[in-house]
Amino acid sequence: MDVELNRKNIVKHQGLIDAERRMELLGQRGCVVWLTGLSGSGKSTIGFALEERLVRDGHAAYVLDGDNIRHGLNGDLGFSPEDREENIRRIGEVAALFADAGLITISAFISPYRRDRDRARAAAGEGRFVEVFVDAPVEICERRDPKGLYVKARAGEIKDFTGVSAPYEPPLSPEVVLETQNKTVDECVDDILGYLTGSGILVRRA
Ligand code: ADX
Repeated sequence: MDVELNRKNIVKHQGLIDAERRMELLGQRGCVVWLTGLSGSGKSTIGFALEERLVRDGHAAYVLDGDNIRHGLNGDLGFSPEDREENIRRIGEVAALFADAGLITISAFISPYRRDRDRARAAAGEGRFVEVFVDAPVEICERRDPKGLYVKARAGEIKDFTGVSAPYEPPLSPEVVLETQNKTVDECVDDILGYLTGSGILVRRA
């Protein structure tokens, strides 16, 4: 199939419900909370805790998590730079759709390349993308090593491992920075909720 030709013949439909109506209905502006950081930095833990707090407060939230997505939608992808790029491209598009539907969409992926994260930001649209740098030094992540992957990476059993044998490009101007070695999970969640409220994304807090 000629993908370019196919694209030319596809026209985007505009629905009858706009963002304002969805916001009135849900008491929130759909957005993407994009957690980025090394393996073991705390992305998933913070993402699921944030989801729980939001839902408890009466908000609609959903987590897209690295390990889960890689078993399903992105089960065909590995960890080469090209595969990571495609991983983040697909997730960025899915997250943008979820956000458009009105959900507080929380994504928890290493997403090591700035360019790929910027593409995800562009897909969601400005004002709808909250980049959260889950900032923990590699030594701390390695000490935590919850899945025993750093040990394997150091032993050469896993190649292209982020922070060991593959790069991580920290965000230059993230909306939120969380130094997870100095904060509890609850404090990290508070920081993100503070941003979401301050920026008008959460309109109603039950
Ligand atoms: S990303 O770089 O493409 O954003 P993603 O967040 O989806 O990565 O997946 C990272 C998870 O895959 C890690 O938490 C870890 O459990 C596992 N993993 C397996 N191999 C690697 C590797 N080479 N580099 C990083 N993580 C890996």
